[in-house]
Amino acid sequence: MKLTLPDSKYKDSYLNALKEYKDEDREHYRSINQNEIENDFSAFVEKIKSRSRGENLFKGYISATEYWLIDNNAFIGRLDIRHEMTEFLRKVGGHIGYDVRPSKRKTGYGYNILKLGLEKAKGLGLKKVLLTCDKDHIASKKIIEKCGGIPAKKVSQDPGVEKLRYWISLE
Ligand SMILES: CC(C)(COP(=O)(O)OP(=O)(O)OC[C@H]1O[C@@H](n2cnc3c(N)ncnc32)[C@H](O)[C@@H]1OP(=O)(O)O)[C@@H](O)C(=O)NCCC(=O)NCCS
Repeated sequence: MKLTLPDSKYKDSYLNALKEYKDEDREHYRSINQNEIENDFSAFVEKIKSRSRGENLFKGYISATEYWLIDNNAFIGRLDIRHEMTEFLRKVGGHIGYDVRPSKRKTGYGYNILKLGLEKAKGLGLKKVLLTCDKDHIASKKIIEKCGGIPAKKVSQDPGVEKLRYWISLE
């Protein structure tokens, strides 16, 4: 199992995973056009990679590096490391976002993707990272705590977005 930069060689399994994410209407994947990326997957991969250089960013987004969790040569999940903090990330999003494709959940990949992601974050020069999850998100809470998350100070948030916040030291 490895966490690696996006690569066209994982096209088939990524496209299969995309169908699963679309079926559950996962936000990150909503704007990805299945036909478009199927026709030019390398352009899609290059676009993702360019975001770590601050190019092709969505409105209000900052540069971030996306990695793919690969096992048995197939796409399993995605992890995103944001290079800096914004007001929104400090309160809601944190430094790292991740997901595991629906058909591969509950077998330990969630824990592994974050564990490997922390090594990448260290490699990017971050000294500590902020992780967040919804208060009732049992799986994510378990994963973050198992990876050494220390509860961070509560911050005022918009009504309805109750988040747990944790720091993980990388030193
Ligand atoms: C959160 C997510 C990454 C977990 O992935 P996963 O591969 O199922 O995680 P794991 O198999 O490593 O499970 C971690 C722990 O959570 C538990 N768990 C997993 N899914 C669960 C669920 N739906 N309800 C309760 N517990 C759950 C597992 O049993 C395991 O517990 P353990 O450490 O006591 O054994 C996955 O559900 C996902 O991609 N969700 C959508 C995106 C998301 O919420 N990302 C997190 C953003 S903060």
